[in-house]
Order: sequence, then structure tokens, then C-alpha cells
Amino acid sequence: MSPTPGRPARRGAPRGAAKGVVEGHLAKRRLSQSFLVDLEARDAIVAAGSAAHGETVLEIGPGLGTLTEGLLATGAHVVAIELDDDLLPRLQERFAAEIAAGQLTLVHGDALNVDLEPLLPASGGWRVIANIPYHITSPLLHRLLLLPNPAQRIVLLVQREVAERIAAEVGDWSYLTAFVRARVEATIVRTVRRESFDPIPAVDSAVLVLDRLSADAALSLSEEDEEQLWRLVQAGFRERRKKLRNALPRALPTPVDQVMAALDRSDIDPDLRAQALGVEEWVRLLRALGGIPGAPTRAPRMMRTEPGEAPTRRTRVGAGRVNWVELDAPGKVNLTLAVLGQRSDGYHNLHSVVAPLRLADHLTLRLRSAGESEDELHCAGLPIPGTAENLIYVALRELRAALGPGAPLPPLSVVLEKRLPVAAGLGGGSSDAAAALRGALQLCNLKMEPRQLMEVAARIGSDVPLFLPEGPVLMEGRGEEITPLTRWSEPTPGVLLVSASEGIKTPDVFAAFAGGIRGESYGAALVSSQHLAQELTTGLSTAELLLRSSTLASANDLLAPARAITPWLRPLDHALRRVLGQPLSLSGSGPTLFLLYPSLYDASAAGALLEAAVARGELELPPGGVTITATELA
Ligand code: C5P
Repeated sequence: MSPTPGRPARRGAPRGAAKGVVEGHLAKRRLSQSFLVDLEARDAIVAAGSAAHGETVLEIGPGLGTLTEGLLATGAHVVAIELDDDLLPRLQERFAAEIAAGQLTLVHGDALNVDLEPLLPASGGWRVIANIPYHITSPLLHRLLLLPNPAQRIVLLVQREVAERIAAEVGDWSYLTAFVRARVEATIVRTVRRESFDPIPAVDSAVLVLDRLSADAALSLSEEDEEQLWRLVQAGFRERRKKLRNALPRALPTPVDQVMAALDRSDIDPDLRAQALGVEEWVRLLRALGGIPGAPTRAPRMMRTEPGEAPTRRTRVGAGRVNWVELDAPGKVNLTLAVLGQRSDGYHNLHSVVAPLRLADHLTLRLRSAGESEDELHCAGLPIPGTAENLIYVALRELRAALGPGAPLPPLSVVLEKRLPVAAGLGGGSSDAAAALRGALQLCNLKMEPRQLMEVAARIGSDVPLFLPEGPVLMEGRGEEITPLTRWSEPTPGVLLVSASEGIKTPDVFAAFAGGIRGESYGAALVSSQHLAQELTTGLSTAELLLRSSTLASANDLLAPARAITPWLRPLDHALRRVLGQPLSLSGSGPTLFLLYPSLYDASAAGALLEAAVARGELELPPGGVTITATELA
């Protein structure tokens, strides 16, 4: 498409209008919002996509709809995913006719989480043409390239340096370049100056075109080999300035002579650096190494959530007749946890300030087809031991019993995508159960008094009620007394989580407490907890919350009993403190240890530091290794 003569070359508010306001919309920094207002650049992106009439085009982050308009003009069927609640109604209004005609499918959600497969052709060609939020470039590329039927062509407007890195000649590669170029050819068709956007960003951009490699040129490895390949490539890039002869033995659990022999056998000069290797060389090296010893679980791999809207209450409901509901089940950390004493029913009274995480499991609930009489659960993502006793089943059972025959809950099918480490003190199972309660009521259009719903939640488990309200809460009693607290003001604090793969059983930790194991300053946790809860009734800035971080690190009465029954916890805690320079907190009964940071960026940087220390063998890991995750409080 070329620009139509006479059409204004730019769209958007005149410069000098209220700062950051574009067409009446206040651009959100945390979503990297910067709108393309240069219609010539827009048309160049559409032309680079060369979508055929009727072909499916995925657009991520339509924003104000400038690119969407160009895409619709080609006659393509556009699926556009928008995260921003404020922009959705504008898009719905602007493209009402195209939506009604079925040419545009508008989806509200996060492109990193939305279930893409039902929205895209299962076979045959389709395209991605998008001006994406730059901070999600890397995870989005991972997601798009790993789809079972990936796009024929992906056209992305991205940060110029990122585009150049992805399209670079071997010699100037990054880990991301290798990952992307294993699957696609990359070309930059043009650069786009920062002035083409409103608000003007700090960087220039480029239109990157990625074309799927032919079957014989593309990487063809088993899933397991591929997992190993990327671990090897990541190891190579961990210290990118170092030569392979030094970088690889420091990052791999393989003795140096074996690494040297493998480099020799694969005909790779050990004096090269990782950026000089193409995909073929990496594959050759992996084969020469004969794989990487140590199960993948031993190698800590940092997971990272991306900044954005808090996912806790984002629910997506099927269009028309409501027949499915999708929702997030966030994890939590206990900022404080005072154990007050054992009750006559064997449980302990608690006083705990709990904060939800952006890291979340994901649930999809559907009605089962007629004739089915039982609930079913499918699990994806992180493996979870035996699904029969999963709290989602318990939740549906308890909900059905509470609703009674007057408002029967039909059999449901649930898909659980597990992302939260299991038995880690992050409340994953409890949060899944709370999400199942909310999702089932919504799916079946049933209502329940909040108090009764709390009671149902408490019957499922002590940690379930805390996930019913949104945001931080004070948890008292055995967990059934929940008081919502005020969220800290912006910016959102980052969190680094270090979860040992070997879980800890909560009853064992409480039993050790009941057996008399107490920390040196037992009683201090209650004071800190009451103080924090009081402060959070009126609100606290993120900076003030972070100032309390060191005090909060000792405000968990389950730390001493957890250490007593888990010999590796204390050495791990000390080693982490040495590397990160600050004391960590234990979440719940553990084993996850966490630290708050001013932002997700800082938490990620600390995670990278930790990974490097592990790679250098400076940290003795517990049996089974650890998972390092950088995320945010939600
Ligand atoms: O309620 P839930 O099944 O999640 O609790 C697991 C176990 O943790 C209980 O059986 C009990 O041993 C212990 N617990 C406790 N006091 C609490 C919560 C849990 O003693 N407030």
C-alpha cells in the first residue's frame, strides 16, 4: 500500500497537547505505549506483510488502530490482541463494522498468555504483522516461533538495535539471534525514526521481516535435544566477552578437558566467542559433547514475567453464549507470617500480610458435553504430581455441595496451565482452587454471597480464602479471616523468587513449630506483621515498603521450623544472602526465598547475577536444584 494522496502524513494529537496524551488517550509507560502516527511507515509495514485477501493476520497491540486500519484495507482477516482496558472500547467503536462482518476479531488479553491456537489456522499459512510493545519482543518471539503451526511470515516493528541484532551476520549474534534464526530468515526492510511515534520514544525502530525457513533448512531436533541446545547456547552467552574455551567450562557442569575435546571434534576454534557461532555449529558442538550432563531441573533457568497489567482479575469469557471462562490464578508471598499458637482443632492462629504475584497459573473452564457426569482436569506447563487430589477437584466438589440441588453446578472441564512452582510456599494449588470457584460461578452465571464463598474456600484449604479478594490482604485465624489491604503506590515492586525443586510439606513445618521449634526472636514477627498491616490500611509507597525489606526478612515464624526439618535451607539462604547482599524472606512454610526490588528490571538483573554465580559453582544448590524467577507484586 502506498499513502493515499492528500491524506495527512501523521495522525495523533498535535505536539504540545497534554504530555503523553494521544487522540485523547493517556499513553501508559508500563505498557511501552508509543503510537505509530506516521502513515507512510504504517503503509510500509502493511506492504512488507503482503497478506493475501482472506488470509489470517495476527496483530499484537493494535493500540489506537492505525495499523489495524491498514491491515483491514488489504482484505485480510485480522485477529488483534489488546491488553489495555481503556483502548478496547475505542477499537470496538472504530471497527464496529469490520467486527460485525467477521473481518476483525478483537481479543482482550496479554499476547504472552492468550491461548493463540484457537484463534489461528491449525494448518496452512498465516501472518503476524504488528507494532509490538518493545519490552515483550523476546518472550513474544519465543512464543510465536514455538507454535505448532508457526506463521509463514512475521513482520514486526521493533527497536532498531534488536532488529539489527536478529538480522545480524554470524559474528555478531546473541542468544536471541540463534533462537530466532534456527527457524526463520531475517531481513530489515526499513528503519523508522523515533519521531514517527507519539509519545516520541528514546529509540529508533526498524521493520523486521522473518520468513519461515523451508523444512530442510529448519532446525529438526527432538524436543529434549532442543532443550539441551538452548541451554548450551545460553551457557555460551553467559559471559559473552569470554572465549568459548573459558566461557563454556565456567557455565556448564562439564569438565574443561571434555569441553575442549568437544570443541576440537566439532571443528570449532576454542578462541572464538559465542557470537561467532551459527546454529549449525551449536548443534555440532552439542552432538560432540554428547549432551549436557545433569537433568534440566538442576540447571536454574530464570523465568521472568513481563511488566504490565496485574493479571489477578483478568477474565476472558467466550463470545456469544458463554461457554468458557479463562482466568489467572496468581501466586503469593507472605511479607510477614506470625504464628500465634496452636488451637484446639490442631491448626495454628496466624497473623500474616500476603501479597499476590504477577506470576500466575492459568485456568480455562468449560461446560462438559451432555452425557458426561464428572468434572475433568487437564494439566499443562510444569509437571504436577497426580491430578486426582488436585484442589481444583476439591473446589468444584465443595462448591457443588454448597450450591445444593436448587442451583446445580454442571460437570466442568478445566485446563490448568501450571506456571507456579509446586509445593513452594507460593500458594499455587490454593490459588488454582480459588480461581476454580470464581470461574465456575461465572461460567454458570451463578451467584453466591461473599461470606458463604469465603466459607467454601476455607473448607478447601487454609490458604484459599486469601485469594478471593484482589490485592494484598491480612490473613488471620487459621486463614479464614481475610481483610483486604491497600496496595502500595506505583511503581510496582519487582520480586526475585528462588524456589528449591524439592518442596516442603506445610504440615511437617507446622508440626515442627508445634514441637517447640522457635526462632531466636520469636514474637518479633507479630510486631512487624501488625505494624505492616496497620501501614497498609492507609497505604505505603513502594520505596517505603522496600525500606522495610530487611526487617520483614526475619518476620516469619515458620523459618526456624522449616530450617530444622530441611537441612539444605539454611546454607542456601546464607549463600543467596552472600551473593545478593541482602537477607531474603521465606514465603509461607517455604522453600521459596524471595527479595523485593524497586522494579521487575532490578529483580531480573539480580536473577542474572545469581545465575552467573551458580554457573561459576559459587553456590551449593539443594538436591534437585532451584528455579529462579523474576516477577512483580501484582
Ligand atoms: O488447611 P490446609 O490443608 O492447607 O493446611 C495444611 C496443614 O497445615 C494443616 O493440616 C496443618 O497441619 C497446617 N496448618 C496449621 N495452621 C494453619 C494452616 C495450616 O497448622 N493456620
